[in-house]
Amino acid sequence: KEWSREERYRVLKSKEEIVDVHKRNAASVYRQSYHIQPVSGLSSDPNGFIYHKGIWHLFYQWTPWGAVHGLKYWYHVTSTDLVHWKNEGIGLAPDCDYDNKGCHSGSGFAYGDDMYLFYTGNHRDENWVRTPYTCVAQYTPEGLKKMPSPLFGPRDDYAEHQRDPKVVYVKEKDMYFIFIGAMSEDKRGTTLIYKSSSLLEGWSFAGELKVPGYEYFGGMWECPCIANIDGKDVFVFSPQYTTLEGRGNSTNHNVYLVGKMDYDTLTFTPETDYRYLDYGFDFYAAQMAANVNDDKKAIMITWIGLPDNHYPTEEEDYEGSMTIARELRLKGNRIVQSPVKAIEQLREECDEEEGKLSKAMEMLVDFNEGDASLHLFTKENGEGGFTIDYNANTKTITVDKSHMDKRFNEHVFETLDVPLDEDLKNMRIFIDSSSVEIFINDGLYTFTAHVYPTEKECGYTHSDNVSVSRYKLKASVKD
Ligand code: FRU
Repeated sequence: KEWSREERYRVLKSKEEIVDVHKRNAASVYRQSYHIQPVSGLSSDPNGFIYHKGIWHLFYQWTPWGAVHGLKYWYHVTSTDLVHWKNEGIGLAPDCDYDNKGCHSGSGFAYGDDMYLFYTGNHRDENWVRTPYTCVAQYTPEGLKKMPSPLFGPRDDYAEHQRDPKVVYVKEKDMYFIFIGAMSEDKRGTTLIYKSSSLLEGWSFAGELKVPGYEYFGGMWECPCIANIDGKDVFVFSPQYTTLEGRGNSTNHNVYLVGKMDYDTLTFTPETDYRYLDYGFDFYAAQMAANVNDDKKAIMITWIGLPDNHYPTEEEDYEGSMTIARELRLKGNRIVQSPVKAIEQLREECDEEEGKLSKAMEMLVDFNEGDASLHLFTKENGEGGFTIDYNANTKTITVDKSHMDKRFNEHVFETLDVPLDEDLKNMRIFIDSSSVEIFINDGLYTFTAHVYPTEKECGYTHSDNVSVSRYKLKASVKD
């Protein structure tokens, strides 16, 4: 379907208008059962991820009408355990002049008893010229109260791409800082930093973030996010408009640096080269939330999807999903990811016969020495599938989705490698109706992808040196 601008930017006036599309979407065989997904239409970036007064709040970029990027809302979901999620309705709606063409991405901030959402007001004038504003709204149980005017507008010595505010408080300086993803006039990807001694006013431009070695790295850094984990600073961002080693033809990436952030010189000094936050086909715009009562870890949720890519459920007028919530810890200067512990509550005995997958399941896989293979979603004769093959000589895992019946984004990549620094030992795999998330070697590497198996693609095979145990997983996200 071709969407006109009018259709993509149509304002949602009442819930009734999307009842039909929601019903159709909810009836899809690819509807996820324990992953957050759009109530209707499209979900993309996670936004405003925050723990406040005993509740985890998450919002996602949302186009209500169909699988298309258009007028963006923040749709709100909540949880007490990061596993069972409840739909709460619209969080932020683009109903002001300064956000007339969308409430774009941003972050949440808890301030005493109050909770604030910082976002990008995507304003466009009648000639479709864009002005991105950095805006704030207060969350109250009665709804969101937007401040009457934005905190600040864009800088005119940078390109129009200035968005996705991440707010942090730096105790030693008793100062608030906002990181804004940006593109310079000469099309370098970068981050702009603003500061203020008060959260809701007095913001001024402090300067460009300096990251030695990353002066020329992609053309736009979307969704910058910074968190302190176990005494080190972790900077996560999504560079665009460049290909990167080992990532096929993709020009959308999600990487991290571990190092030290100096708020006097606005310099982030990385300890090592950048690493991919995930090695899979569909992973972007990660957002971290500081963990409550444990500064040794952060929690991360990410969009399973990529900008400019297309997915088979577009035919059914929806697309997008969030990853499961993951705990991030550091091992030296590497991030280690694990599913939040509470996800184990979803486990049920797996009564599927050996060699058969169920639509929502967890697999625990151990690898013995040597080359190995694990093929998921194979046909009855064991062929086809989403193939995972390990070469013990080169210590490389190769994932190939080109044998699946439903192929998509073939021009971007259908096969990717995960180069390991050590032998392959184990995988923990989470399968839902249209996604797979793989935690490799206790989470030192992860691989996340959309996959749309047909009815016949429900088997799995593996080499003799691989052992698999399985759980079925109960549903935990209501439609
Ligand atoms: C990333 C992004 C953000 C922007 C939002 C709009 O996917 O492009 O930079 O705020 O999506 O939906």
